[in-house]
Amino acid sequence: MKRVVLAYSGGLDTSVAIRWLSDEGWDVVAVAVDVGQPDDLAATVARAETLGAVEARLEDAKATYVERFVVPALHMNALYQGRYPLVSALSRPLISKVLIDVARDTKASAVAHGCTGKGNDQVRFEASLSALDPGIEVLAPVRDWGMSRSDSIAFAEKHELPITTTESSPYSIDDNLWGRSIECGVLEDPWHPPPDDVWHITRGSEQPSDEPRDCVVGFEGGAPVSVDGDTVGTERAIEAVGAIAGSYGVGRIDMIEDRLVGIKSREVYEAPAAMSLIAAHSDLEALTLERSVAAEKRKLETTWADLVYKGLWFSPLRKAIDAFAGTTQAAVTGEVRLRFSQGVCAPAGRRSPHSLYDHSLATYGSNDSFDAGDAAGFIKLWSLPTTEWSKRKSD
Ligand code: ARG
Repeated sequence: MKRVVLAYSGGLDTSVAIRWLSDEGWDVVAVAVDVGQPDDLAATVARAETLGAVEARLEDAKATYVERFVVPALHMNALYQGRYPLVSALSRPLISKVLIDVARDTKASAVAHGCTGKGNDQVRFEASLSALDPGIEVLAPVRDWGMSRSDSIAFAEKHELPITTTESSPYSIDDNLWGRSIECGVLEDPWHPPPDDVWHITRGSEQPSDEPRDCVVGFEGGAPVSVDGDTVGTERAIEAVGAIAGSYGVGRIDMIEDRLVGIKSREVYEAPAAMSLIAAHSDLEALTLERSVAAEKRKLETTWADLVYKGLWFSPLRKAIDAFAGTTQAAVTGEVRLRFSQGVCAPAGRRSPHSLYDHSLATYGSNDSFDAGDAAGFIKLWSLPTTEWSKRKSD
């Protein structure tokens, strides 16, 4: 029999895909990849077997996800269109890598994903898969069968597939350690406010908010490693900051997004950890990076976020930009005090052994070391081209 390795999330589409691929004559090896989503993945794997997978595996990719994907994104303060912290875009290249590894291991001739034909994820999977193994056959059953979400629900009901009410909810959800993406249902009306039931990891302002509080995040080489003085490691730090930020309703995003396939879509995200840590990390960079390096990096950040959003994780440009970023991050070591109040996370203090802030230069008090006499001459030369140009009245 032909064998295919399917990226299995446990959701509606990939559950239907197991049945559909089996009916098409494939032996399906289902792989659930742990990238920090809160699901019961043992149950996900068991379900894949019930649905007819010949084998179902759980691959723990959490540590790799943190180290190789999330931390580089944080280094680049990565926000697509200035707002979206690339939650789903970051996990796709890693899941692709796992698919290729399992395909080699099980001697499968094909891999499959459950993306529709309208989104970015199909591009991310297929661009990653072909970079990793140009010879592998890639199946996209959900795109090919052309069923709508309600068709899939009807298919699942007709074949009595064990889909719980959660999976047949109107929303399409993608989750990992960096946040949650929520699509479909009433969210497709861009005027309709997100209903309360879309939010799972952030608390709304209608609920009593806690007193404002500070949280001190410690960074080493641009990665968070401690929270309020406890050294906990990067993965735990992300979870801990996410929990605090979520309890203050920080990290809700409701935006109109330009998808790669040309569609404008309304997207809702919850990314309390990502949004707070990007705020903290960029604040620490402001203290520690030399200004022209920081300015150049800001331009590359936009390029990086665009590339990764658009599925080109395995591109030489992404690697080249990471190499640039790598030279900057050693200095991004220190602490940032984040002040949380309802819906707001604002840096309210920062310190670093690599700080470029010199109090004696910056102070308006007496005993400063800045020679204001130098300023007058500097300003003359700095403005000389404009002064000369202004004298020529004709322009
Ligand atoms: N629009 C987002 C992106 O392109 C979210 C995709 C979410 N995927 C999903 N299956 N719900 O990254």
